[in-house]
Formats: sequence, structure tokens, C-alpha cells
Amino acid sequence: MFHAVNRLTLKWSQRSSGNAMSKILIIYHSQTGNTEKMAWAVADGARFIENTEVVLKRAQDTTLDDLLGAAGLAIGTPENFGYMSGMVKDFFDRTYYPAGDKVFRKPYVVFISAGNDGTGALRAVERIALGYKFKMVYDPVISKGKLTDDDLAKCRELGSTLAAGCQAGIY
Ligand SMILES: Cc1cc2nc3c(=O)[nH]c(=O)nc-3n(C[C@H](O)[C@H](O)[C@H](O)COP(=O)(O)O)c2cc1C
Repeated sequence: MFHAVNRLTLKWSQRSSGNAMSKILIIYHSQTGNTEKMAWAVADGARFIENTEVVLKRAQDTTLDDLLGAAGLAIGTPENFGYMSGMVKDFFDRTYYPAGDKVFRKPYVVFISAGNDGTGALRAVERIALGYKFKMVYDPVISKGKLTDDDLAKCRELGSTLAAGCQAGIY
């Protein structure tokens, strides 16, 4: 549903120059490497956009300041037991109260690696994001089973769309 925005924002951002830097925070957890590869692809996509600084962090290393300093946020998790990974949940647990209303409508996107489903993890992230009042700005990417080139291409598109929209100030 967000595809038209993607094309528009990419064109817009590539034409613009001299804008202030915007920071994109990619926070993820990964046990066997799939979500991490997706996170790298999201980062590649975001770096494609001018004047974008990418901060790629494991969930356990991500701080409140990282969150507050980011113009946009990409959240990546494996689906574990029908939910997000514990480390991503821990990040939310640590930052929810102190973030307060400072993250109102912060643009965010989600990417998930799952064995065969992914909807439970997505629902859980969306529900928590509602509590923060984050604003989802592009379709989530869910990779099921073996990670494919198509999944990684979608992750690059996710990153470039988030970064372009933040840079253009359209969210
Ligand atoms: C403890 C555990 C629970 C899991 N639960 C689910 C699940 O509920 N649904 C699913 O589709 N895959 C499940 N999986 C599979 C992982 O989501 C999948 O292997 C994913 O690619 C792992 O991502 P990672 O390589 O980034 O760690 C589970 C894996 C583990 C280790």
C-alpha cells in the first residue's frame, strides 16, 4: 500500500541536496544470522539516500538516546514462539517510560525473519508501537524460511523508503 510513496520520495530525495543530515536507527536481534542479513540490507538501502546517517545496532546495545536521536526507526526481529525476540522486547521495556511523548509519530518500519509464519511477531511489534505512538510508514517485510534475494531487495527498499521520507520531511 505504500509503493507510490516509495517512488515519489526516492525521486524527491535524490534531487534534493544540501539538506541537514537525518539519522536512521536500525535495531535488530538475530541468533542465527537471518535478521542480521536483513538489517544489513535495510542499512544499504538507507545509505543510498543522500544526507542520511545510518546507525545499525543490536537491540541489547541500543539506548534511549539512540531512539530519541533518530529521525526514523527500522525494527528487525526473528519470530520466536509466535512473538518478537526477547532482546527486542527488552529494548521496548527499557525505553517505553523514559521515551514518553518524545517519540510521538516517529516514523518506523519492521522486518521479520520467521521459520514459517511471522504474523505473531509483527502483531506484537505493531501493538507496542501503538503504545509509543510510532507511525508505520511502509509495508513490513516478512521473510519465511530460507532468506531469499527477493527478501533482501525488499529490505533495501524498506531502508531507502524510510530514509528518503525522513530526509524529505514527508512523514
Ligand atoms: C526459540 C525459537 C522459537 C521460534 N519460534 C518460531 C515461531 O513461532 N514461528 C516461526 O515462524 N518461526 C520460529 N522460529 C524460527 C525462527 O524465526 C527463524 O529460524 C528465524 O530465521 C531466525 O532468525 P535469526 O537467524 O535472525 O535468528 C523459532 C526459532 C527459535 C530458535
